[in-house]
Amino acid sequence: MTILKKEKLHIETWGCQMNVADSEQAASLLSDKYELCEEASEADLIILNTCHIREKAYHKVTSRLGVLANFKKKNPDLVIAVAGCSAQAEGKKLLKNKNVDLLVGPGRIKEISTLVETVKGSNQKISALGFPKQEVTEEENELDKISYPTLSEERNEISRFVTIQQGCDNYCTFCIVPFTRGREISMSPLAVYNQAKAFVEAGAKEITLLGQNVNSYGLDLVKADKLKASKEGPFADLLRLVASLPGLKSLRFTTSNPHDFTKPLADLFQEHPLLGKYLHLPVQSGSNRVLELMKRKVTREEFLERVTWLKEACPEITLSTDLIVGFPGESEEDFEETLSLVAQVRFSFAYAFKYSPRTHTPAARYKTQVPEDVKTDRLRRLNELLDQITVEENEKELGKTRKVLFLYKSKKDGGVYCGRSEQFKLVKVPAGRDITGEQLEVKITKATKTALEGILV
Ligand code: 5AD
Ligand code: SF4
Repeated sequence: MTILKKEKLHIETWGCQMNVADSEQAASLLSDKYELCEEASEADLIILNTCHIREKAYHKVTSRLGVLANFKKKNPDLVIAVAGCSAQAEGKKLLKNKNVDLLVGPGRIKEISTLVETVKGSNQKISALGFPKQEVTEEENELDKISYPTLSEERNEISRFVTIQQGCDNYCTFCIVPFTRGREISMSPLAVYNQAKAFVEAGAKEITLLGQNVNSYGLDLVKADKLKASKEGPFADLLRLVASLPGLKSLRFTTSNPHDFTKPLADLFQEHPLLGKYLHLPVQSGSNRVLELMKRKVTREEFLERVTWLKEACPEITLSTDLIVGFPGESEEDFEETLSLVAQVRFSFAYAFKYSPRTHTPAARYKTQVPEDVKTDRLRRLNELLDQITVEENEKELGKTRKVLFLYKSKKDGGVYCGRSEQFKLVKVPAGRDITGEQLEVKITKATKTALEGILV
């Protein structure tokens, strides 16, 4: 019997968790023939899974391709594939780059294995973009159940992503995602459940359900008469279904768009301890005028109402958010309303960005673009406030006892285990035995901006 030596696959992933999940799936689909390697210089196949959300993200791809060109000189058989949102959005330009052999859009990642085989057997480039209007078949569900190899320290078999929905139908005026990831398509509840169950049986303790706007999960299936939902809606039904998995210790989900985040969803945080005490709820701006220009379909007051629902359901809940500064037409007063909202809600952390115009999106055509130096200054002021609040909120944890799910052993600090508290704060604890996968009580003894430290109780 001859044993086939596997070739080496190197994957680099930028951007959101959907991309991380896609990279895990690609690695899984290729695992028959490829094993993962950490160094790009050793690889036979390199996949750059790219992000297009802001201009900077796209520049990173082109500059990385320049560096990888050197590896191609040394190994002419090296295959370089560009996947993800930049592949979808800038396909034509990327195909002209002589170092790119294969383009795979987010809608076609399931075909990666066949595509790689085809490109290897030919001397032509291949481009697989767009969104085939395919139903998720039972065989594909089976494929999804393969246990994914893991791609980083924090992403391992303890905590797994399950994609429940592709695409987005919201068309916020700044956002490229509906163009790069297409319309919303939901996986069937059974497919989601089976995938989560397969992960739990393989040792997962935490499942994070992923979608561009998970609140609207399943509405497409209901409309097509493929699913019956309770009056709380298909997403609440799905959460209850997955939460019933024996052995699961933590169930998270992202991203929830505030506009269709409902009171019954907030109430689930009271009903279900597995949901923990944390939610990411992107608000983008504190000004109603800007929210309207962004077409976020929610006002500042409505956002605050959702925060109140969540605090009523779960008084210890922490929230994080996304914010954009310098959206076209944002005045100093508008920006100050963002600062005041941040001060009022006291997010445990936030991702703040300068607005970046994206081709095809309405906001890129607005005539009221904000000068770069104004954006830079607003981002600095906003980050100062966010950092101050993060530190103060973390310091409030001192002396408290928190339930922490341990996810991995730190590579840097020997004997230190890292996990997340129910409030999604990173907690580091020394331990004399392997505690990964266990949910344990920890007394918090130290707090910095980025992490908490503690001792096992
Ligand atoms: N410019 C700046 N930030 C953006 N985001 C999305 N599109 C843009 C853009 N054009 C941010 C939003 C979103 C997060 C994923 O990225 O805050 O919630
Ligand atoms: Fe983009 Fe808005 Fe969809 Fe989020 S909800 S992916 S910001 S269009």
